[in-house]
Amino acid sequence: MGNIIVPKAWEDRELRAVEEHVYLNRREILRDLAVVTVGLIAGPMLSSCSDESDPVEGPDSSIGDRNFAFPGMDSLYPAARNSNYELDRPLSDPFDVTHYNNFYEFIHPDDEDIKSIFKYVSVFDTRDWMIQVSGLAERTGIFHLGDLITEMGLEERLYRHRCVEAWAMAVPWTGFPFSRLIQFLEPKNTVTHVRMQTIENRDQMQGIDYQTWWPWPYVEALRIEEAMNELAFIATGLFGKPLPKQNGAPVRLVVPWKYGFKSIKSIVKIEFLDHQPETFWNKAVPAEYGFLANVDPSVPHPRWSQETEIMIIDGDRRATQKYNGYGELVAHLYE
Ligand code: MTE
Repeated sequence: MGNIIVPKAWEDRELRAVEEHVYLNRREILRDLAVVTVGLIAGPMLSSCSDESDPVEGPDSSIGDRNFAFPGMDSLYPAARNSNYELDRPLSDPFDVTHYNNFYEFIHPDDEDIKSIFKYVSVFDTRDWMIQVSGLAERTGIFHLGDLITEMGLEERLYRHRCVEAWAMAVPWTGFPFSRLIQFLEPKNTVTHVRMQTIENRDQMQGIDYQTWWPWPYVEALRIEEAMNELAFIATGLFGKPLPKQNGAPVRLVVPWKYGFKSIKSIVKIEFLDHQPETFWNKAVPAEYGFLANVDPSVPHPRWSQETEIMIIDGDRRATQKYNGYGELVAHLYE
C-alpha cells in the first residue's frame, strides 16, 4: 500500500455520518456526562506534550521495528496460527487496524480524531516492560514481559473485534491465553476477579492531563471465570509482528465477545481480588458502560442501536451477533 493515501470506505459520507454520530457522542457528550458522574470539573485543557511527536508514516513503519519492545525476541514472530479460531469474514487491512484506534491516553487536544491517535504514540517508551502482579496469588511481584513471553510461548489467533461505538474489525493477534498466565501465577481459590491497569505515563500520554474529566488510570477487570475462558487472550503482537504502540504495545488484553473497551491496552498491573473492582468506563459513565459489556444486539447503547456494526475495511454493515458470535464458547458463563 506504500504511502499512497487511498480514501477508505469508512470515510464515505454516509458512513462518516454514522461515525460522527457515535464518535462525537463518545468524545463530547460523554465528557459532560463524566463531569457530572465523576463529580470532576473539567479545568483548562492542559497538554503536557504538543505536536512534537514523530508521526508514523505508513502501514509498514507503523507495524515495524520502531515499535518493537523486546530486541532479541523478533524470532518469535510470526507465531504459528491456532486454527481453532476461524473468522466468518475477511481480515481487516493492516493499515486500517493500525490507523483507526481508540487509545484515550493519546488523544491530542487539537486533534481528537480517532484516525489520528497513531500520530501521537511515537514518544511512548515501551522498552523493558515490567508487569506488577499483586493480590491473592502465590506468585506475585514484578515480572519482565520478555520473561513472561518466553515462559508462555506465542500463537496467532484470528478474532473479531467489536467496539461499543459500533465499528468492527477482524484481527490476527499474537499472544498467549490469559488462562495460561493465570495458572502460572497461581491465584488463591478465594479469587473472584482479575483487575488490570494501563500505564499512567503523563509525560508521554498527553491525553491524560488534557482529559481531566476521566478517572485515570485506565482500569479494566474480568470475573475469574471469564479470564480463564479459552478466548481471553493476552496479545503482544498483531499481523505477525510485535504490537504497534497505538494498538496497546507491548501487551494488552483481547476479549472478543465483549465490547472493545474491556480489552485494556499497555498493561502494567494485574491484581487478583475477591471482589468486583471499579473499572474506568463503568465508573465514569455507569449508565452507558456496564461491567460485563458483552456484545448484545438486543441491548441498545442509550444513545445508539447495537443491532448492526460497520466493518472497518469495506464499510460493510453487518448484523451484530450476540457475544460477537462467540456464544458457543462463552454463553455458559452467564447462565
Ligand atoms: N485501553 C486503554 N488503556 N485506553 C483506551 O482508550 N480503548 C478501548 C480498548 N482499550 C482503550 C483501551 C477501546 S474503546 C477499544 S474499541 C479498543 O481498545 C480499541 O483497540 P484498537 O485501537 O487496537 O482497535
